[in-house]
Amino acid sequence: MTKDFIPLLQKCSLQIQDLLKTTPACYLNTTNTSGDAQLQIDVAADKIIEKELMGSKFIAGLCSEEKSEAIFKDTGSYLVAYDPLDGSSIIDSNLSVGSIFGIYEKEFKASALVASAYVVYGPKLEFVFADDKLTHFIYNTNGWEEKNLATLKTQGKINAPGGTQKNWDPKHKKLIESLFEEGYRLRYSGGMVPDLHQILIKGGGLFSYPATLDSPKGKLRKLFEVFPFAFIYEKAGGEAIDGKKRLLELEIQSLHESTPCFFGSKNEIEKVRKYYE
Ligand code: AHG
Ligand code: MN
Ligand code: MN
Repeated sequence: MTKDFIPLLQKCSLQIQDLLKTTPACYLNTTNTSGDAQLQIDVAADKIIEKELMGSKFIAGLCSEEKSEAIFKDTGSYLVAYDPLDGSSIIDSNLSVGSIFGIYEKEFKASALVASAYVVYGPKLEFVFADDKLTHFIYNTNGWEEKNLATLKTQGKINAPGGTQKNWDPKHKKLIESLFEEGYRLRYSGGMVPDLHQILIKGGGLFSYPATLDSPKGKLRKLFEVFPFAFIYEKAGGEAIDGKKRLLELEIQSLHESTPCFFGSKNEIEKVRKYYE
């Protein structure tokens, strides 16, 4: 049952929240498969999740941003792909960061995604889980309190454009400029979890991380960043595309593969299609 993941992932999030309070943001001499320098805290958060998930009888395997290969065991049928700490480059400036989880049935591929979740480590600890339904929890003195998460309006006011602007394609530049000309406001922290969470909470807008000259396949990774959020955005009544195609219809060639991605409310995604066609 996918609902069994809720207490399990919440347990991980409480441990990682403690870790964030006590661990300095210092780099190790190692890089992950994507070539990002690893922080001590990236690896420690990865270990916390690995320990909890590998102890669960309904999980058959894991893949993580911080592990080059997937790991498997003999029980269960769910596979979890996760980003233990998203936004590790903004930890030192004390901005909100997150964890992201994609829960797959038997295979690591978009069509096998059955549930997904993210955690926001901010002034408050928040947890959003989606399977057939979307649930939002906030941790307070009485424990996890379930909240209503309204669906996205057909149009919002926020524009969260990722990637180095110098390296944007001219059509992407035009799209972003046209949103600002229409009155959209810039809201971008550099962490996809708080940036996407803000659009959900405020009811709409656009988050983009396009193909750029330096990253022609975008930066964000399909299995543990893009697909989980695409699933959540669709459940919230929004859409998620790579410029043309629905993200959840993309194939997967390797565990750490990235893709350009756009998440938002209906009207904004329609606009992306128009500029990218
Ligand atoms: P991670 O910290 O897991 O490597 O991911 C960070 C991601 C994402 O949160 C954010 O949207 C994006 O990287 C920002 O990257 P740049 O600042 O390099 O554009
Ligand atoms: Mn990340
Ligand atoms: Mn990460």
